[in-house]
Amino acid sequence: EKGGYEHFMLKEIFEQPKSIHDTLRGRLLVEEGIIKMAGIWDNLERLNQAQKITIIACGTSWHAGLIGEYLIEEFARIPVEVEYASEFRYRNPIISEKDIVIAISQSGETADTMAAIKMAKEKGAFVYGICNVVDSSISRVTDAGSYTHAGPEIGVASTKAFTAQLTVLSLIALKLGKHNGKLSNQEFMRLITELESLPKKVQEVLESTNEKVKEIAKNFVEAQNFLYLGRGYNFPAALEGALKLKEISYIHAEGYPAAEMKHGPIALIDENMPIVIIAPKQGHYDKIVSNVQEIKARKGQVIALVNKGDTQVSSVADYVIEFPETSECFSPIIASIPLQLLSYYIAVYRGANVDQPRNLAKSVTVE
Ligand code: F6R
Repeated sequence: EKGGYEHFMLKEIFEQPKSIHDTLRGRLLVEEGIIKMAGIWDNLERLNQAQKITIIACGTSWHAGLIGEYLIEEFARIPVEVEYASEFRYRNPIISEKDIVIAISQSGETADTMAAIKMAKEKGAFVYGICNVVDSSISRVTDAGSYTHAGPEIGVASTKAFTAQLTVLSLIALKLGKHNGKLSNQEFMRLITELESLPKKVQEVLESTNEKVKEIAKNFVEAQNFLYLGRGYNFPAALEGALKLKEISYIHAEGYPAAEMKHGPIALIDENMPIVIIAPKQGHYDKIVSNVQEIKARKGQVIALVNKGDTQVSSVADYVIEFPETSECFSPIIASIPLQLLSYYIAVYRGANVDQPRNLAKSVTVE
């Protein structure tokens, strides 16, 4: 059932044009100019009047939550906090009846997330779930929710579930913003048109980067550390890229906001430090250019993810991976694809068991 692929992980990476399309299907109606989501529509007033939204999740789902924060704050202008479910749960957070909690979980079974939901409900919060597994425990205890329709994810390292989570969070943010008036109709239309084109762009990036990333990966089989950098929406994408590499290749990797480099990690940079930098045209590109120059001045090896036609970053980077341009808010969906492939191929070259990495389980049902 690996559909001709060597591993489930690779199959699932390649399924993303379809899984994103499935997550959008029936919801995104561009011609009518609407987003249809029953869970949001039925609770619209409560959601749009929330004092704050707290997103709780673990691991990859937590990274999706961080991007959700950027999306909801930008388009719906509602304050959002993102917390690890395990921290939220044990620190007596300030939560009341006027609060909304969004719980994100692929499996819908994660014990820490479940415990955090129970606590939020006891404090009177309204809990909205974003789960992939239909009828999972979390989807049953939440007050309302939206499924990601990514289909079963078998590989332990989450790939298509992550991009589906980002897709659902984008839909939610745009729908809230449209109805609460914080997002102009013109901007809404522009963004949903762009959202609709994502499956095609994801297909494009898979086709145009797979072989290249596989080649690049060969150079890093012996690496012991990696730094992943990104700004804005792509800062959480950098965290996720680093997590993917750690999980399946067992290479130590850290994600950082690019601007934080000078506050510490720059001390680590020498010729033995590979640095993956996400540098799309939109999103403080000039600042990223100077980050890359600082890295090169210290002989770090730069693997740059740039938009097609890029010249400035490309001319100084050691390895260049091009991806199609999109609105900044959706760029993590596209940039994540080559990062997933990079971790996959490095792990394969190292002979690791990519579908079942050591010490990890697909659903973490212990607290
Ligand atoms: C990363 C990964 C884990 C999960 C985390 C949460 O690839 O698989 O970090 O994201 O255990 O799991 P869910 O989303 O099922 O709650």
